[in-house]
This record gives sequence, structure tokens and C-alpha cells, in this order.
Amino acid sequence: MLKLNTKIISASIAVSAALVMTACNSGASASGSNHSGASTVQTVYADGKAVIDGGTTYPVVNGYTSQYAVNTQVDSETLNHGRVPTAGELAAWNTDVTHIKLPPEGKGTVEEGEVLYEAQCVMCHGDFGSGGGGYPALGGKGEASELQKTLKAQRTTPDEDGPVRMFGSYWPQASTMWWYIQDGMPHPKSKTLTHDETYALTAYMLSVNEMMVGDIAVADDDEFELNRDNFADIVMPNVDGFEPEIRGENGTENVRTFYAKASNFGGQNLNQGAVRCMTDCQEPTAKIVRIAEGGGIRDFFPPTNIVRDLPDSAPVAIDVKAEYAANCAMCHDTGAAPTVGDRAAWEPLVSKGVEKVYANGINGTDTGMPAKGGSSLTDAQFKQVVDYLVTGKL
Ligand code: HEC
Ligand code: HEC
Repeated sequence: MLKLNTKIISASIAVSAALVMTACNSGASASGSNHSGASTVQTVYADGKAVIDGGTTYPVVNGYTSQYAVNTQVDSETLNHGRVPTAGELAAWNTDVTHIKLPPEGKGTVEEGEVLYEAQCVMCHGDFGSGGGGYPALGGKGEASELQKTLKAQRTTPDEDGPVRMFGSYWPQASTMWWYIQDGMPHPKSKTLTHDETYALTAYMLSVNEMMVGDIAVADDDEFELNRDNFADIVMPNVDGFEPEIRGENGTENVRTFYAKASNFGGQNLNQGAVRCMTDCQEPTAKIVRIAEGGGIRDFFPPTNIVRDLPDSAPVAIDVKAEYAANCAMCHDTGAAPTVGDRAAWEPLVSKGVEKVYANGINGTDTGMPAKGGSSLTDAQFKQVVDYLVTGKL
């Protein structure tokens, strides 16, 4: 029973893996599509191979992805959906992330990763990656290899030791983490991290998931440096928890073969959709087992959360003068930096435009201004303090 349950999990994950792979596949051919309808999808890649079941690719024709070419008039007149990406933008996003694709050259330590995490990730993912507020937990729940054992725990009463599914306990490949961060995070401004920064953040992820790189326990060594050479030594506790075998040269082909046969993952019954069905649509098979009466998968631990709202951006009122005293005065009142309301000192800076001054303050400068003065003010709050600093007025 437990074993069978695990296989169902595997199948659903392999589906998402397949989605990622096919979505990223470039050079898809136009076969089997006519670009005029919203539902036009690719079923065959340029190389003639079938897309992996569950995956969908949309051909780009005349700069339009078929899906978006539904009714351009409506789009341009009443809706504001942005614009069609340029070929260059598409190319920049088009990364095939596979198990064999090691990250590029680079390096970063746990310590550096922690600093970056505190500055760019903690507001959503919580302290040590603990999650919350609708954002996924990334770590901070214990030792990955121990948590991996929970994956076979019962899943019908989530409050009692359900499976803990996170990067450390669950993901089969560490390179996925590297590329996820590099291409997708931080969420509001993805693709802004350097390769070294991504190595550092990945090292920090290994640390908060209490993972091993070879025989090194990363959590015990803040100075541990992750780089391209030792990347392959990362031990993923759940590397064997998936079906089919995605490692090695044949990984992608194994996935294709697996999904070509519907009985492997549950789509086999009722003529594969030809007969409409709302309840009991699957016959139990060797791999598909109905979980006990009245049961079913209800939730996971930590619970998956469908709330996806951004952190509260409404400005929280601050005592501007007190924040200045606590966070800025040690430099700006001592002559080390322009003082409050000193017109002569601020004028050359403000002449660049106040937005530039805000941005320099928020991001920090090479000439002595630390990002936000090292404070944990939000951008909006920080700007209030800058206004005070520049004008001397509250
Ligand atoms: C504004 C909020 C926000 C910020 C800031 C942010 N993230 Fe995320 N992150 C998200 C959301 C939302 C998701 C889930 C995306 C999804 O499920 O499609 C996510 C998902 C992830 C995941 C995948 C987790 C999983 O188990 O699927 C990783 C890893 C991650 N973020 C790392 C980072 C790192 C590292 C940073 C800092 C450089 C960062 N994030 C900054 C909102 C954020
Ligand atoms: C560790 C010292 C230090 C702290 C703390 C500090 N600053 Fe600065 N700040 C500087 C120095 C030095 C400069 C001038 C050099 C420069 O602009 O890079 C500066 C410049 C600035 C500028 C002008 C940026 C530009 O170049 O356009 C702003 C705005 C600013 N600080 C705001 C603040 C605010 C607001 C705080 C407190 C929340 C703060 N600073 C805390 C050292 C500091």
C-alpha cells in the first residue's frame, strides 16, 4: 500500500517535470498546428520526437505564440496584457534544464548566500526558508535525509506526520535548485542574480536543508563554498524516489517512454477520455490504488497553500526621525556622509533625479552607502527617511 502510494506521487511529479522540459524545448516544429485557434498545440518537436505526455508547446509564428493570437483586437483595445516577447527575450528564457545540465562556472559560500537570502528572499520565504504567508518553505525543517523518510508516511490525515516535501527531502536533482533560483528568483525581478550569487544561495539552501556535499555536512560549515566542481557531489536523499529513471543519458527518453503508456500513470481507463466521467474514473491497477473509503489525499505537511498574495505593501507608519536616529545617524550625522538638510551636500546627488537617489540608497553604493543603510525598512519607508535626510523636513 505504502509503496503504491509513493508511485502515485512519483507520477504526478514526473508530469510536472515533463511540463517543465517540454515548455523549455526550443525549435518546436509547426507540425500538427495551424496557428489560428487558441487551442493549437504542438505534439511533435522539430526533431520529430513526440512531446512528453502532459507537456504542451505553442508554436511562435509572426512573433505571436498561437495561444495569444486569439483576438488581437480585443487585446490591444481593452486589455493590457503587456506585449509579445521579442525573439531575443524568448531566447534568453529558453533554457533546457535537465539532470545532466550542470550549472555554469561560478562559486559562492553559505555565508554569502545567507546575506543574499536576508536581503532578497526572506520577506517571502521566511527565516531560514521556513515559508509561510503563502510562499513555499525552502528549508529550516530539519535534516533532509530524515525528512525524506516521511515521504512514505500516510497522507490521509495530514496533521499527523504527513510527508514533508521540500527541496532537500524531495527533489531528485540539485541542479533544479540552481536553475530555479537563477531563472525564476527573486520572484519580482528574476534573472538579476549573478552566477556566483546563485551558487551562494544554493549553498545556503543546502545548509538550511541540512544536506551533504560528499562527506561535508554543509550546515556545520558557514564557509563552505559550492562551485561547479563539487556540485556533482551533492547528495540528494530522494534521488531514487522517482519513476522512471531520469538520470543518465537516457533520462529524457525514459520519461517519454513512460508517458507513452497511459497505464503507467493512470490515464488508461474509460478509453482515455473518450467516455466522459466524473467519479471513479480509474480502475485500480497495479500502480493505481484508491485510498481507503472516505479518505483521499487531503493535504500535505507543510500544508500547500494556495494563497499567493504579495507581502503587505501598504506602508506601515514609522517614526521617521527615530528610524533616522537608529539607522542612519551613525554615518550621516558624523560627517562621514551628507547630513540632514545640508543643501550643498545633497544638491549634486539630487541633481541626478530623486529616483536615482532613492535607488542608490536602496541598493547601496560602492562609495560607502550600505543598501538601505543596513536597516530593515521597506522601500516605501526608506524613501520617507531619505526625504527627511535630503530636505530636513518631516
Ligand atoms: C516576492 C516574493 C518572493 C521573493 C522575494 C522570492 N521568492 Fe522564491 N518563490 C516565490 C513564490 C510565489 C514561489 C512559488 C512559485 C510557484 O509555485 O510558481 C517561489 C518559489 C521558490 C522556490 C521553489 C520552491 C519549491 O519548493 O517549489 C525556490 C527554490 C525559491 N523560490 C527561492 C528563492 C530565492 C533563493 C529567493 C531570493 C533570491 C526568492 N525565492 C525570492 C516568491 C518569492
Ligand atoms: C555605514 C554608513 C551609512 C549608513 C548607516 C547610512 N548611510 Fe547613507 N550614505 C553613506 C555614505 C558614505 C554616503 C555618501 C556616498 C554615496 O552616496 O555613496 C551615503 C549616501 C546616501 C544617499 C545618497 C545616495 C546617492 O549616491 O545618491 C542616501 C539617499 C542615503 N545615504 C540615505 C541613507 C538613509 C536613509 C540611511 C538610514 C536608513 C542611511 N543612508 C544610512 C553612509 C551611510
